Amino acid sequence: MGLKKGVLVTFEGIEGCGKSTQINKLYKLLKKRKIKCIKTREPGGTKLSEKIRKLIINDLKNNEDNLTELLLLFASRANHFLKISKYLKKNYIVICDRYIDSTYAYQHYEQGQSLKFINFLQKKIDNNVRPNITFFLDIPASLSKRRIYSREKRDRFDKYNQKKMNNLRKSFLILTKKFKRIIKIDGTKDKNRVHNDIIQYLLNKNVI
Ligand SMILES: Nc1ncnc2c1ncn2[C@@H]1O[C@H](COP(=O)(O)OP(=O)(O)OP(=O)(O)O)[C@@H](O)[C@H]1O
Ligand SMILES: [Mg+2]
Repeated sequence: MGLKKGVLVTFEGIEGCGKSTQINKLYKLLKKRKIKCIKTREPGGTKLSEKIRKLIINDLKNNEDNLTELLLLFASRANHFLKISKYLKKNYIVICDRYIDSTYAYQHYEQGQSLKFINFLQKKIDNNVRPNITFFLDIPASLSKRRIYSREKRDRFDKYNQKKMNNLRKSFLILTKKFKRIIKIDGTKDKNRVHNDIIQYLLNKNVI
């Protein structure tokens, strides 16, 4: 893969699968090894996009206005991508919490919004700069529910029911078959073992 142009590494999966946990572990390790990297998230990642995130999470109601949600997500991504591409050009490893595959899973597979329209907007933003590697942390919906219920603060996405969560998981599994860049990791294992699986993959691909 080489490191000449920066690497975009995204983390995907259903709620509570361990994305934040694993991103923090990876970021800490890369920093320790003095590898140039940033961690960022979607929706969000820039001042403007974080404001849009708040609108999406706090002000929109489930199923009420899916098109508004999709357009807000892409507005936030358009701004966020400027930051992503800036760091990729500086040869950074950009670690992003959720990205295009969440749009496919939630907005296309779950909400039934047009794939053609999603891909059109995505290409407008990234001019086909897609993630180099996507780690899909796979856990069953029942485990997602258990992990999320132990949280103090829950947002509207955390209230998704188990059936919906199971459908989302299936969508990520479909995406894994569709895109070679998506690497399925068993997210049910102990946090450190999941971390090791991720590191091992990145080492094998000469990313780190
Ligand atoms: N491998 C693991 N084993 C057991 N518990 C875990 C594991 N990974 C994460 N957890 C715990 O599960 C909860 C959810 O993890 P985390 O916040 O990393 O998930 P997430 O994918 O970022 O969730 P969200 O999509 O809601 O942001 C946390 O309490 C975390 O400590
Ligand atoms: Mg998280």
